Amino acid sequence: MTNGSVFANLALEFVRVTESAAVASARWIGKGDGKAADKAAVDEMRERFNQIEFCGEVVIGEGEKDEAPELYVGEHLGCGEGGAVFDIAVDPLECTDSVAYGRPNAMAVIATGPKGTLYRAIDSYMEKISVGKGAWGAIDLDAPTADNIKKTAAALGKDVSEITVAVLDRPRHEQLIKEIRLSGARVQLFTDGDVAMAVATCLEDSPVDMLMGIGGSTEAVLAAAALKCLGGEMLCRWKPKDEKHLARLSAAGITDLKKIFTVQDLARGDHITFTATGVISGPLLQGVVFAPRTIITHSVIMSSQPKEVRFLETRHAHE
Ligand code: FBP
Repeated sequence: MTNGSVFANLALEFVRVTESAAVASARWIGKGDGKAADKAAVDEMRERFNQIEFCGEVVIGEGEKDEAPELYVGEHLGCGEGGAVFDIAVDPLECTDSVAYGRPNAMAVIATGPKGTLYRAIDSYMEKISVGKGAWGAIDLDAPTADNIKKTAAALGKDVSEITVAVLDRPRHEQLIKEIRLSGARVQLFTDGDVAMAVATCLEDSPVDMLMGIGGSTEAVLAAAALKCLGGEMLCRWKPKDEKHLARLSAAGITDLKKIFTVQDLARGDHITFTATGVISGPLLQGVVFAPRTIITHSVIMSSQPKEVRFLETRHAHE
């Protein structure tokens, strides 16, 4: 078995981890308690990870050790022998608020790579543009919004008026939204979940062509892992929201805020995987369904080598 297959096969095991986390947090949909939903996903994810024979280290998790008792950055996971050979990036519940308030688009996510391949992003914000494979090379973070849209439209063989740009619905994006509308393209605002939206730009027949705007930096790494598997492009640059974020970055030795990160910078090498299970339906996955005798989950499993994407519907017996 090649090294690549070992990594890709583990991703098939990790889907049980995201499924369990998704089901646990889905029980909290609409109850107004994001913390409880997140904790349910974290507890489940950690327990399931530790039943798998592998050795991994969390590089993106719930925070530093003093902030999070579980799935903290630096925590070792898996019941395999020896030192960590995998980097693991997790978001047990991407979109806590969506679950708390029953809004669309939430999922449990894991990305992995060989040790040293996933960027250990400090928790802050990044400016992002993502497009699918068909528009690879068409985007530039320093170009005017209208130029990026025009070039993406040309690469995809579409009219600008047929392009849809997904943007997180936040006051900070007011100017960006104006610019997109002025370009003649369409805007799709969404309340949360720019990982799923970035990945959606890569799906065939996706109604979304581009993602633009400022979102979480750890989410950028998770999305990059998926885009690596799908051949999409994402460009990012630090955009700390306040002095606290600035101090956090500078304490980590990050002073060059002009640096542009590509997918390759955030998820290096050839053996990257991305696994996610929907909690509430969004642009990438359907959510958990509690049916009379079964619980139905919808997941995606991707690997960059071999280049494979599997969509999985699983029926779990009620325990
Ligand atoms: P959480 O998983 O922390 O709830 O993040 C949801 C999310 O919408 C991300 O997808 C996005 O990157 C980030 O929040 C944007 O941050 P903010 O809500 O502070 O604008």
